[in-house]
Amino acid sequence: MLLKEMFPIHQAHGTEKDRPLMSIKLLWYLTAPDGPYPWDPKGRWRTDFRHLEQLAVTIDRLGYYGALLGTSANESLVVASALISATERMRFLVAQHPGELSPAVLAKYAQTFDAFSNGRLLFNVINGNDAGLAALGVHYPHDERYDFSREYWDAFRRVYAGDTSGYDGKFVKLAPRSSGPSPMGTWNPPTQLPGIPLWGAGTSPAGVAHSVELLDVYLSFANTPPLLGDKFRRVGAEAAKIGRTLEYGTRLQVIVRETEEEAWAQAEWFLSKSSVEHARRSAERQLPPGVTLENYRSDNPIIQKNVDTLLSGRLPSAKDLEIYPNVWVGPAWFGFDILGPASGTTLVGSAENVAARLREYEAQGTNAFILSGWPLIDEAHRVADLLFPLLDLDHGFDVPSLGVQAKPRLAPPPKAAAA
Ligand SMILES: Cc1cc2nc3c(=O)[nH]c(=O)nc-3n(C[C@H](O)[C@H](O)[C@H](O)COP(=O)(O)O)c2cc1C
Repeated sequence: MLLKEMFPIHQAHGTEKDRPLMSIKLLWYLTAPDGPYPWDPKGRWRTDFRHLEQLAVTIDRLGYYGALLGTSANESLVVASALISATERMRFLVAQHPGELSPAVLAKYAQTFDAFSNGRLLFNVINGNDAGLAALGVHYPHDERYDFSREYWDAFRRVYAGDTSGYDGKFVKLAPRSSGPSPMGTWNPPTQLPGIPLWGAGTSPAGVAHSVELLDVYLSFANTPPLLGDKFRRVGAEAAKIGRTLEYGTRLQVIVRETEEEAWAQAEWFLSKSSVEHARRSAERQLPPGVTLENYRSDNPIIQKNVDTLLSGRLPSAKDLEIYPNVWVGPAWFGFDILGPASGTTLVGSAENVAARLREYEAQGTNAFILSGWPLIDEAHRVADLLFPLLDLDHGFDVPSLGVQAKPRLAPPPKAAAA
């Protein structure tokens, strides 16, 4: 059966031509490591500060809205601070675990960062990973962590906005702060009003409840466009219950070339830099508890065929791993998601087809895309050259490489997802 017969392409708002377009933000990825195929130590570069600086300058000059600085060996806020002076427009979406620092200390860092960068800080609120957080001194169990996080960010927002009256919560207690000429009493005013935008994720019921109360932009790893749209609509319905609307963003790797053939040749090359063992290890991480690859059964015939190929000791071909037009679950630094899209999902195809797929995600309510391709600098250029001209970008400034005129800074929230 043909792929397009199994997964008819959704057009939520009519045809490509008559559908009203929202506009989108494209962000890139600014996190070590880098390299041509970093999932293998042979394809991974030593990504030092100079390299990150070169990457940041590339992202900034090309006109991306910003970049994600995920959890890595480097502390994200330190990396972002070190890159302020090398950049002019890009925003830094900095991974931040609530509780690592007092919310008042984080607010002072944020005020300083914003004063120096002209308001270019965004936070990506991270609540996962019990063991990792406990090692940093944050010991709340899963659901209580979300209650703590609500209070933490409430206190953060108040202090950032200039409130000195203190905070008396269940988890967070701050004494009132005297303002005045002493070094302890003089703080920067807020640069971004009403505050630093909070982006973040969370799929569990507690995670969704927390997200809809707190976040400005709800993030999810990608799936096929219709399934991602379903998730965003579910979250949007929860937000609507408390009178809120959010924006929505996703995370994708991308292999974009002038032609389909070139793009799939690159995907095939990536596959040649993987192995059956790599694919098995990644697939086993995706299995539910108690299930082995041998007794795993998927309802999706493409996925089942790929599992069977793996069990016979071979890797599927690049095209076999295309589980929806241009949506690929081949190897990536973030996983080889043979059992279905997760953190490693990649868009593969010609510029026209990848742009059409991004518009399909957009029609399903996505208006921010955090993209990456390997190596990061080369592929940032490719995406800017090939995709920027085909998309309606809303970056709040003129996109320099295209001479595209700036739009008003804030786009209205996506109606499809908020309904
Ligand atoms: C776009 C995106 C970026 C993320 N970045 C990080 C990160 O830098 N560090 C981290 O520990 N988790 C990160 N996460 C993981 C989430 O914070 C959260 O732990 C994960 O989404 C939980 O899975 P869930 O979708 O089942 O709720 C990220 C998730 C998304 C969707």
